[in-house]
Amino acid sequence: MRDLDEEAVAILRANDRGGFTVPTARLYPYQWNWDSAFAALGFATFDLDRSWREIEMLFEGQWPNGMVPHIIFRRDDPDYFPGPSVWGTDNDPPTSGHSQPPVAATIIRALFEKDASEGGAARARALYPKLLAWHRWFHTARDPAGRGIVAVIHPWESGRDNSPDWDEAMDRVEPARAKAYTRRDTSHVDASMRPTQSEYDRYMRIVEFGAEYGWGEDCLGRNGPLFVADPGITFILLRADRDLLAMAQALGIDEGQAEISGWIARAEEGVGLLWNDASGGYTARDLKTEKLSDGLSSVSFLAWYAGLGGAWLEDTLAASLERILGASAFAVPSFDPEHRKFDSLRYWRGPVWAVINYMVGRGLSEAGREALARRVHDDTRRLIEISGFYEYFDPLSGAGAGGGKFTWTAAIWLAWASPSASRG
Ligand code: DGY
Repeated sequence: MRDLDEEAVAILRANDRGGFTVPTARLYPYQWNWDSAFAALGFATFDLDRSWREIEMLFEGQWPNGMVPHIIFRRDDPDYFPGPSVWGTDNDPPTSGHSQPPVAATIIRALFEKDASEGGAARARALYPKLLAWHRWFHTARDPAGRGIVAVIHPWESGRDNSPDWDEAMDRVEPARAKAYTRRDTSHVDASMRPTQSEYDRYMRIVEFGAEYGWGEDCLGRNGPLFVADPGITFILLRADRDLLAMAQALGIDEGQAEISGWIARAEEGVGLLWNDASGGYTARDLKTEKLSDGLSSVSFLAWYAGLGGAWLEDTLAASLERILGASAFAVPSFDPEHRKFDSLRYWRGPVWAVINYMVGRGLSEAGREALARRVHDDTRRLIEISGFYEYFDPLSGAGAGGGKFTWTAAIWLAWASPSASRG
């Protein structure tokens, strides 16, 4: 019988590039922000020191304004486009120009609680001001009106590149104007599993815009091509703020506590702006038109993980999740399988992602919704047992899709989905 724990450890080791981990060889040959944080969660199951190192190397890419970029390049690799020269950022090490979902504080809190040594506390203490600065950047640059909902300036910033959440806003982005470019992703993975060419041309337009006018918040946000409040980042940041506050309290650090409490209160109030009665859950809100997106994506179900409660969640959101799970063989499809835009293989328009399942499952479990939590957990285990450590999975057939030997799928296996893991 295959030992999936051993395979998962081998994947993390093989994707290690000397203190940081690539998501998978060739398709993603650099350090990606939230991939790396999840890698740390996996390493923490067998090598705590290596786990801390992953996060410390991620923060080597932090900008002076607090932003932690979505890619840290360190070197040029012809396997990936757009590489460091295209972004026009001015950083050492070279980086992309926007961020990605801030899961790091939540994972650092778990690391800190696991590592009882003096060294663990010292490493958490050193990371705390960096996390605080990053969260502050999100709460200002990506929520300039202070409404408690956090926006993205590029679909890549959400981590959910081609989610239908961005469709309407993307329709208004012009295709890239600059010289022709060659996509590299479709030479590694079947094009039917990746964003379309029309989406790529618009992704590149936003990169072009940032490179031309600068990546500062005065140029982007409202003045840039796209600005959409994301339920994914909003919920992940709310959860991360709670974990950052808990860490400050445990470490006896006063600095930032009042500020973080303010962010939490503002978000608890603000999330109502993302509630979409017609869809029966939280959806994205285009900040240029104030229109809510149509259709539920899996991040809507991160509301429990964000620590929210109340009638909307107890009644409507739970019923929506039950309906969606009734329509798919495996939890949790990234987009509603009963919606016309669902596509079971195309990246974030249908496939299941183990990291989202981990967060949704943990939130459900913490909220005492055991039956739903168990379904999400057990389906994640089955998907990996049936298909292996793929980037994502078809929710109808369970087939693996995208890149193989994927770091974050291996990490979630070790930390949560494996029979040897504790299901926290
Ligand atoms: C990609 O290149 O597909 C990444 O998702 C961008 O971060």
